[in-house]
Amino acid sequence: MAEPILEVQELSIDYPIAIGTVRAVREVSFVLRKGEVLGLVGESGCGKSTLGLSLLRLQKPPGRVVGGRILYRGRDILGMKNGELRRLRGANIAMVFQNPLTSLDPLDRIRDHFLETLAVHEPELPREQALARSREILERLGIEGKRLDEYPHQLSGGMRQRIMIGLGLIHEPEILIADEPTTSLDVIVEAGFIDLLASLKAQYNISIILISHNLAMVAEIADRIAVMYGGRMVEIASAEQIFSEPLHPYTRGLIDCVPNIDAESERLVSMPGSPPDLVSPAAGCPFAPRCAQVMERCRAEAPRLTERGEGRQVSCWLGEGS
Ligand SMILES: Nc1ncnc2c1ncn2[C@@H]1O[C@H](COP(=O)(O)OP(=O)(O)OP(=O)(O)O)[C@@H](O)[C@H]1O
Ligand SMILES: [Mg+2]
Repeated sequence: MAEPILEVQELSIDYPIAIGTVRAVREVSFVLRKGEVLGLVGESGCGKSTLGLSLLRLQKPPGRVVGGRILYRGRDILGMKNGELRRLRGANIAMVFQNPLTSLDPLDRIRDHFLETLAVHEPELPREQALARSREILERLGIEGKRLDEYPHQLSGGMRQRIMIGLGLIHEPEILIADEPTTSLDVIVEAGFIDLLASLKAQYNISIILISHNLAMVAEIADRIAVMYGGRMVEIASAEQIFSEPLHPYTRGLIDCVPNIDAESERLVSMPGSPPDLVSPAAGCPFAPRCAQVMERCRAEAPRLTERGEGRQVSCWLGEGS
């Protein structure tokens, strides 16, 4: 198994609000290995973006980390000074944001976006070399180099998406975090994007955290899938394990919601109940009110993420054996 390059341990993140505190991420732990694609899934509001942004200490204000550790190759990101953090961002870990279509400045040509991004970590790089690097990365992403002279509005949504990825990759980071990278794109472009990620993984041996509420999309590319519910990690397993034998009832529910083109019924199943209250959470497992297999213990005590063999982890009293 490849070595871990990012380790998140017991991470908790709060948003102070007028009526108290939203604990958007609660004691979350996971590991990202060299060269793997880790899918991070869960319903809207479960804390995926807060978690993803926090890995580079970019969480939206007033969000703040209130506990835990984030280690990149053993170095504590939460303890880094600003200079060290700036070098880490982009150079080692890059992030592609939730809405790529609005992230490019309409007044700047594509080449200016690249030159500016390159200048952050390589200010000494001569302009000709910077342009050559930009052209090369565009071509690797399947875009002609001459597009560097164009403005964002001259490119299709799919191309702009690729430009965003290119800007993320220009410093050859070891980790790419992509948050809902395809939500604003059509399904054809989305399929192309998945192929693109697969080829990046092969070309650069990059590790990718792919954040999405769309389990079906994530399953096409992820080696492992991490499922969040109400700010907690509820299951982490290989993509095969998640689909063939989901252990957490919430994971099972998510799979039932994935449209199946072979199924006779065209009805889209949605999960009954609503997401948990993050401001004043009830005692016990946050999924208990929606869980078909709820037991007495679930309402009293929250389970912790525990090892279940074959590298998988689950946070559920079912199958705990006591
Ligand atoms: N600025 C904020 N102030 C207060 N609460 C916030 C703030 N931003 C997010 N939250 C809360 O934190 C929780 C997690 O939000 P987050 O955006 O991380 O979820 P998400 O899983 O990325 O959702 P989505 O799928 O909609 O992108 C939500 O319940 C949200 O209400
Ligand atoms: Mg989000």
